[in-house]
Amino acid sequence: MKVGVVGLGAMGAGIAQLCVESGVDTVGREVTAELGERARERIGHFLTRKVEKGQIESFDLSLLTTTTELADLADCDVVIEAIVEELEPKRELFSELERICRPDAVLATNTSALSVTEIAAATQSPQRVVGMHFFNPAPLMPLVEVVRAELTSDDAFEQAYRLAETMGKHPIRCHDTPGFVVNRILLPLLNDCVRVLDEARVSVDDLDAGMKHGAGWPMGPCELIDLVGIDVHVHASEALYDKLREPRMAPPPRLVAMANAGLLGRKSGRGFYTY
Ligand SMILES: NC(=O)c1ccc[n+]([C@@H]2O[C@H](COP(=O)([O-])OP(=O)(O)OC[C@H]3O[C@@H](n4cnc5c(N)ncnc54)[C@H](O)[C@@H]3O)[C@@H](O)[C@H]2O)c1
Repeated sequence: MKVGVVGLGAMGAGIAQLCVESGVDTVGREVTAELGERARERIGHFLTRKVEKGQIESFDLSLLTTTTELADLADCDVVIEAIVEELEPKRELFSELERICRPDAVLATNTSALSVTEIAAATQSPQRVVGMHFFNPAPLMPLVEVVRAELTSDDAFEQAYRLAETMGKHPIRCHDTPGFVVNRILLPLLNDCVRVLDEARVSVDDLDAGMKHGAGWPMGPCELIDLVGIDVHVHASEALYDKLREPRMAPPPRLVAMANAGLLGRKSGRGFYTY
């Protein structure tokens, strides 16, 4: 089994790390050799820490090679794309991958908000295109949504599902609809939580305590939005609202104002909470 990962940013590096941890031969493609090398070092660092903490016994970083040449993915069984969240670059990439990869290779996208079907339509072989939606951080979050686009074959779908299992994940099967399963539910729910802050004049601390102690959430909604990034949440809500037009999906003005002010949550040091 050989897996290609295109784009070694936050998600792609996490996915490549999971492949290495699972003993899978992996080739990662970045736009420059330096970015590829940096991602490989980061992966080595995280895996070393896991060994130090006793979470894994050892790892073999030589399973991962990095390249800037897409042609080096020619012999992969599965390629997972994790480049920028924009339709045209993804469509271009998939049509190139189709030319380069073996005809039986599965081509997967990690898109969160774009249509897998539209990405697949850029190829002549949409039956082998599937969504593999990992959650951030990929090495820690157990879920992978395996997404069936309109023309995905059963074979490609099941190969993607099995790969997610090989990577130690908990895959679930779903069809290609906006937000797939978890974000379709979670984004409007988090937006409701923010609206309740103003409606019920409840404090941020009390709202979080309410959902933790009354609904069994592992962390409060405000903590969660801070962790995800307020800009990321606003962007994802807008994308879902654009597609489904349900008012609850639109980001509350309070969140938009916070994003515009640079209050982005944990990563900027301040959001609902100060870090
Ligand atoms: N960050 C998240 O929380 C999250 C969660 C689930 C899914 N996703 C999805 O994963 C994908 C990647 O997101 P990210 O947060 O890792 O982005 P990122 O900006 O951290 O990484 C993208 C990487 O892709 C590289 N890249 C761009 N074009 C490329 C190309 N043609 N070939 C090779 N590399 C290329 C960039 O240099 C960059 O390193 C997006 O589709 C995003 O929606 C993100």
